[in-house]
Amino acid sequence: MGFFSKDIKTLDDLFVHTLRDIYYAEKQIEKALPKMIDKATNAQLKAGFEKHLEQTRGHIERVEEVFELHGVKAKAIDCPAIDGILEEADEVSGDIADKEVMDAALIASARAVEHYEMTRYGTLIAWAKQLGRSDCANVLAKNLKEEQATDRKLTEMAESKINLQAAE
Ligand SMILES: [Fe+2]
Ligand SMILES: [Fe+2]
Repeated sequence: MGFFSKDIKTLDDLFVHTLRDIYYAEKQIEKALPKMIDKATNAQLKAGFEKHLEQTRGHIERVEEVFELHGVKAKAIDCPAIDGILEEADEVSGDIADKEVMDAALIASARAVEHYEMTRYGTLIAWAKQLGRSDCANVLAKNLKEEQATDRKLTEMAESKINLQAAE
């Protein structure tokens, strides 16, 4: 089902559709992170991915909570956008032999993932509020906060020693 499916008529439909999109995305991220943990060399990066895998499992549970609050079935729908980001991450990192360059590539891919999640949660929170679902918005805001914190940590790593080492 494409984003502009005929099944979407109201803002509520769009909200549920996008919730199912991020539900799929979070599940794909849960599957992708162990591979990224394996490929990472820098201890700080590895630990960061491990922590975010735990958080991602929590994100899935919170999205399920929002489905329940909103009274709709928890269902995932294919999200080609996150599939593309994760496929590209896999392809790029598959070609890199140098460990430090690999870490730099993993950080870049992870930042793309976090930004995708941030746009989705930001949008969902705005729509939830417009729909009078501040209860849903509050739960979604917890996920957004963790994505933002993860992105900040990745940004710091990208701007500090990991990329400098890769340039040597
Ligand atoms: Fe997430
Ligand atoms: Fe994330």
